[in-house]
Amino acid sequence: MTRTRATTPGPDASLQFDSRGGLRHLLTLQGVMRTQVQALIERAEILRRESGGGTRPLDLLRGRTVINLFFEPSTRTRTSFDLAAKRLGAQVINFDIASSSTVKGETLLDTVHTLEAMHCDAFVVRHREAGTPEFVAASLRSRAAVLNAGDGNNAHPTQGLLDVMTLRRHRADFAPLRVVICGDIRHSRVARSDVHALRALGAGEIRLCAPRELAPAPEEFPGCIVRHDFDEAISGADVAIMLRLQKERMQDAAIPSEAEYFQRYGLSSARLKQARPDCLVMHPGPINRGVEIAADVADGPQSLILEQVANGVFMRMAVLAELLAPDRHAAIGA
Ligand code: CP
Repeated sequence: MTRTRATTPGPDASLQFDSRGGLRHLLTLQGVMRTQVQALIERAEILRRESGGGTRPLDLLRGRTVINLFFEPSTRTRTSFDLAAKRLGAQVINFDIASSSTVKGETLLDTVHTLEAMHCDAFVVRHREAGTPEFVAASLRSRAAVLNAGDGNNAHPTQGLLDVMTLRRHRADFAPLRVVICGDIRHSRVARSDVHALRALGAGEIRLCAPRELAPAPEEFPGCIVRHDFDEAISGADVAIMLRLQKERMQDAAIPSEAEYFQRYGLSSARLKQARPDCLVMHPGPINRGVEIAADVADGPQSLILEQVANGVFMRMAVLAELLAPDRHAAIGA
């Protein structure tokens, strides 16, 4: 696939927001206000109740068409967008890249314009190149919405939203929270979106912990504390968000062996004892047991990992409803 980038990665407020500051697309959480994050969480909770926890179909998006365009592998994000749209009554096309004309050389934009010509209301886009969802949004010929399902190391906004939604079910007040995010921060779109979401809700302290080779440029995360020693970083933490080593995005980073990495940066039950006794453990998945997290911690009583997955469906329902049916959406639970 070849294409020319029309825009550089990074948020473009004029694209993401309409003239009244409402969401037109969801490309990044940078610039999204506290009230908008709170409203999406409230909506996701209402949709959880209205749908009987996902057992009762709703018809908010009846007559709408959502196309999932995933150019990178996904289990959680793709399945939950699919379920979310269907549970709201939309038609969903899971575009199969491998059997599409993309393999004959059709460009991303020609693909998007072809699908637009058949009429669709939303594109859910995942791509290895940062900035692709923004590029698609800037190039549309219709009023379709673009939802970023993860672009390179840039952003994964629905993951950030579902993570703070999950956390808020356990901690109503974010102000006293000390949150440590540990792992491959440099290549992590989740870290970027989590930091934006946590900031929007006023998290008291955000510590980023990574080996030097995988640490971010400090100016990328102003206000966050950057550490390279996990024992120091996790001390007294209220929340530990663990990240996978994203080898698919590493070009030259010299990383230690998996065994050495686990010894220095893995969340074992012994290391978790250095955090607060009620420290919550999160991970966006997929997890690598014995690399960034021990199996007994991932499956243990402090782990919210599967709650994050479950909440992802309701948050994606909320985002789809907000972008595609804001008036009908507002009427539900009002
Ligand atoms: N958290 C996440 O994006 O997982 P998937 O790659 O399985 O979608």
